[in-house]
Amino acid sequence: MANLFTRKPLERLMAEAQEVGEHSLKRSLGPMNLVALGIGAIIGAGLFVRTAAAIADRAGPSVVLSFIVAGIGCAFAGLCYAEFASMIPVAGSAYTYSYATMGEMVAWIIGWDLILEYAVAAATVATAWAEYANRVLDWFHIAVPYGWSHSPFQHDPVTGAAGIVNLPAVFILLVLTLLLIRGTKESAFVNGIIVVLKVTIVILVITLGWHFINPANHTPMIPAATTYKTPEGITHPFGGVLGILGAAGVVFFAYIGFDAVSTAAQEARNPKRDMPIGILGSLVICTVLYVLFSYVLSGIATVQDFRTHGREASVAYAISTYMHGYEWLSKSVTVAILLGFSSVILVMLLGQSRVFFSMSRDGLVPRVFSDIHPRFRTPFKSNMLFFVFTGLFAAFVPADVSGEMTSIGTLFAFILVCAGVWIIRVRRPDLERGFRVPAVPVVSTLGIIVCGAMIYGLGWTNWMRLLVWLVIGLVFYFSYGKNHSRINEPPPELPAGIDLTR
Ligand code: ALA
Repeated sequence: MANLFTRKPLERLMAEAQEVGEHSLKRSLGPMNLVALGIGAIIGAGLFVRTAAAIADRAGPSVVLSFIVAGIGCAFAGLCYAEFASMIPVAGSAYTYSYATMGEMVAWIIGWDLILEYAVAAATVATAWAEYANRVLDWFHIAVPYGWSHSPFQHDPVTGAAGIVNLPAVFILLVLTLLLIRGTKESAFVNGIIVVLKVTIVILVITLGWHFINPANHTPMIPAATTYKTPEGITHPFGGVLGILGAAGVVFFAYIGFDAVSTAAQEARNPKRDMPIGILGSLVICTVLYVLFSYVLSGIATVQDFRTHGREASVAYAISTYMHGYEWLSKSVTVAILLGFSSVILVMLLGQSRVFFSMSRDGLVPRVFSDIHPRFRTPFKSNMLFFVFTGLFAAFVPADVSGEMTSIGTLFAFILVCAGVWIIRVRRPDLERGFRVPAVPVVSTLGIIVCGAMIYGLGWTNWMRLLVWLVIGLVFYFSYGKNHSRINEPPPELPAGIDLTR
């Protein structure tokens, strides 16, 4: 049994990393691959679906400022991730870093919390995928009834139809889980094509949509502070500073994924130099695109649109309704978004299985999460269990709820990573760092403050959800993880030929 604050020695981490590396992971990724990997994981439902919700429920056109706030918070956290990744270039991301710096219990909390970032995010993006898939089916005059493509907590604000279960979202999760089990590598080439497609679409919407901005939709740029009750019956502050902060927490979802670059540290050719380039490069590119995109989207359609007809598949809706003559763009956006969402879901499911693989090898979660398929060499049981979990979420929980749970969970993980960088600077100043965050502890403190402000903006319903989730996690830790921890034993042998690569 381990002490709650036992830390995993860095030297042991490195040795394990080498072992995993020998079994499977090849160092083949250069700086451009890493930036592409980041963008592939970043641009998704946050931009193409959650932006509309942030405009409708929280901030109106001041969502542009929310993207800037969220980008600043991510930049601070991104710098901290970059230092960790250049110092401990092993898979497992924030979970692994905190095991080495803050001890087992904090590592557990982060690992548990990362379920919100990866698995619940996958469910959220699947729900968003369903919206755009419905649009494609519409072209062929096939309609999935509202009830079978929405959760029971939703109803159509226009027709009043009620949701039952979101089947298309479950469908895409099943297909992608099977792909993961089969061990299909999301090759750098396919990822590259999807990245080019997504970035092209974003740039096209910005440049072509710019001429369709109606200045009335941007007046006033920051709506006066009031409140708004969503169709699900939750009241949020709307407009003013609180509106901007709340919307920053919502659109923060759009940035999630740059830290996925850090999970590829073992596959990077020169992690010390290239990790910071991959993480910060993808972040900077996305921030610029997001600010411009949200300016255009909030200028094309009205807040009222995003509250009613235009809430679903919002980008395609805005183009079809207001950009006459650009139906081709609406259709291409829809197809690109479907592909883009699929790659985000795949990266999220993969990230989830990697974190639980590490936790299972450390004994903190049952062995089933690191059992390997005899033929495909993938953690298939883990993939199936997470399909059940994400499928239930996607089927029955609306994207507003799952998206905000993802945001708050990830913000919490970022705060711990910012604190961790500072702690390890004090404890292990001797370690070689390929990249050093400038002005620690100022930058890490600013990261904690900005991410904390977004958590504050997300409101008490989300604080409660996070709290309940963490309490459930601690019950698991004290009833299982703590007693099964292998921190004091040599790690088990890795089976040969295991496929954890992308
Ligand atoms: N950033 C990813 C998305 O927006 C999670 O879909």
